[in-house]
Amino acid sequence: MNVLVTGGNGFIGSHTCVELIEAGYDIIVVDNFSNSELENIANIEKITSKKICFYPIDMLDYNGLDRIFKENSISAVIHFAGLKAVGESVKKPLEYYENNITGTINVCKAMRENGCKCMVFSSSATVYGTSSKVPFVETLPTFATNPYGFTKVMIERILNDLCMADPDWSVMLLRYFNPIGAHESGMIGEKPKGIPNNLLPYISQVALGVLPYVSVYGDNYDTHDGTGVRDYIHVTDLAVGHIKAMEYLFSHKGSEAVNLGTGKGTSVLEIIQAYEKACGKTIPYKVEARRQGDVAVCYADTKKAKELLGWETKRGIEQMCRDSWRFTQKK
Ligand code: WQD
Repeated sequence: MNVLVTGGNGFIGSHTCVELIEAGYDIIVVDNFSNSELENIANIEKITSKKICFYPIDMLDYNGLDRIFKENSISAVIHFAGLKAVGESVKKPLEYYENNITGTINVCKAMRENGCKCMVFSSSATVYGTSSKVPFVETLPTFATNPYGFTKVMIERILNDLCMADPDWSVMLLRYFNPIGAHESGMIGEKPKGIPNNLLPYISQVALGVLPYVSVYGDNYDTHDGTGVRDYIHVTDLAVGHIKAMEYLFSHKGSEAVNLGTGKGTSVLEIIQAYEKACGKTIPYKVEARRQGDVAVCYADTKKAKELLGWETKRGIEQMCRDSWRFTQKK
């Protein structure tokens, strides 16, 4: 059975490709390589000993997408491709709305044109906006505080409306919390271009000696140690969640939103301590002003994922940091 993975060369996409292949699926990758190195495809092939069929196509190229479906019999799509930097989205809203929303509409139109109506969509906990009601449960209203977050809110709306209009569609909206870590082989992991926005890749560059220290954005939040609390989830646990979600769709129509998180909160200082243990080094940090748009606490209600998909996380913070460090050292 062929699964099309859009953005399959990216951080979460590449880890999901590995798990799909190891679960016995055949995959086709489409990626414009705008935010990831081509080497990821080669590394997926090394890990799985399988040749990967991939198309270097942008989601805004409808004819290119249609050709993929014409040349392959595709049963399901796992849709990762999209721009995802919160800060950048504030500076470039038009690019974010066009790339993420028009791109997704193109993918859906190519699917419909070619008789494929099964999609797992890469959504995000960012759709909970600044809701203070932790743990975040799927029935909370969605909102956003930046253009990136609004693309996720709007795409969820589009996909829900598509399922209402055509009951033949099966759609899973997976709301990720904070994916971190790397494949146990150390061959694929998180390697953002330029200075990392997110905490873990930033810490890993400090551990490597590339950056001097970590800026801790605020230590006066209403949390046990004053620093921000998040639900960090191992990228491999997240990848397995996608397969469980896709397999659920094989026997269910309509759309569902499901959180993929651990249900546990970890603070910035606790992450730094865990990384120090993993790498055997001191990670220097400086407390600075809060970052605009940050919430104090964010973690998942995990009941629906367990009950609907039979999925829960297996890997803890220590393993996330160990696996991240192994990948960082190999770069
Ligand atoms: C985590 C914590 C920061 C960097 C983002 C997106 C979200 C999703 C996951 C896509 C916070 C603190 C961070 C640093 C710090 N991405 N921090 N110093 O903001 O929770 O979520 O990534 O879907 O949409 O918003 O992740 O890693 O940036 O921050 O102190 O240099 O670490 O304040 O408390 P975030 P993050």
